[in-house]
Amino acid sequence: MSGKIITIAQQKGGSGKTTLAAHLAVALSRQSVLGARARVALLDCDPQGSLGEWFEAREATLGEDGTGLSFRTASGWGARREARSLARDYSFVVIDTPPKSDVESRPAIEVADLVAVPVQPTPIDLWATRPTLEMISKEGTSCLLVINRAQSRAALTQEMGIAIEALGHPAARARLGNRVGFAASMGRGLTLLETEPGSKGAAEIEALAAELRDLLAK
Ligand SMILES: Nc1ncnc2c1ncn2[C@@H]1O[C@H](COP(=O)(O)OP(=O)(O)O)[C@@H](O)[C@H]1O
Ligand SMILES: [Mg+2]
Repeated sequence: MSGKIITIAQQKGGSGKTTLAAHLAVALSRQSVLGARARVALLDCDPQGSLGEWFEAREATLGEDGTGLSFRTASGWGARREARSLARDYSFVVIDTPPKSDVESRPAIEVADLVAVPVQPTPIDLWATRPTLEMISKEGTSCLLVINRAQSRAALTQEMGIAIEALGHPAARARLGNRVGFAASMGRGLTLLETEPGSKGAAEIEALAAELRDLLAK
């Protein structure tokens, strides 16, 4: 049985792709698949290499054998091959992609079982998401919007809800709040799940991982 490939894509920079990729990978590695802990690989297709820096910091903090994840890089069409190869050995492959690059993102979108699109709930961010969603539709891959940096549950106004719906793609039930811990935990190669276990933010990312796992199991 082949593992599932989740690509994190969004042409708008700063939307939370890398933060989401790292947090999702750690959250998924704690999910069980067929009674065993899920094996998770991260694949960085962003030449900027932020996720790689995070992973190196993770190795420094937890030791090379203590990260609980595998990490690879790829560029362009190499991503497709690398992702398929990783999916033979891992339950989940999580791919981080660069902003504003069709060439780098398209293969990662094409190979995915599901594309998660982080989006901040503001009108400008929603408008900027359209080209990404069009590219995903063109590749025929299913996608899920992930509301990131929501100010509070109440602040996601009805108006925003309607605007999100108007994009014509489903949004995850789980949302990630705007929490310092999501950003701060990354510096030492960790995630909020490790720096603030049991926190609201940890519960949010756990809920999202469970939602994606269930969606992909269908
Ligand atoms: N849920 C969140 N709460 C608080 N800060 C966040 C959250 N998600 C992302 N950030 C911060 O926003 C900035 C951009 O996130 P990043 O993951 O680098 O986005 P991208 O990879 O899409 O460019 C970073 O400083 C990151 O720490
Ligand atoms: Mg990034």
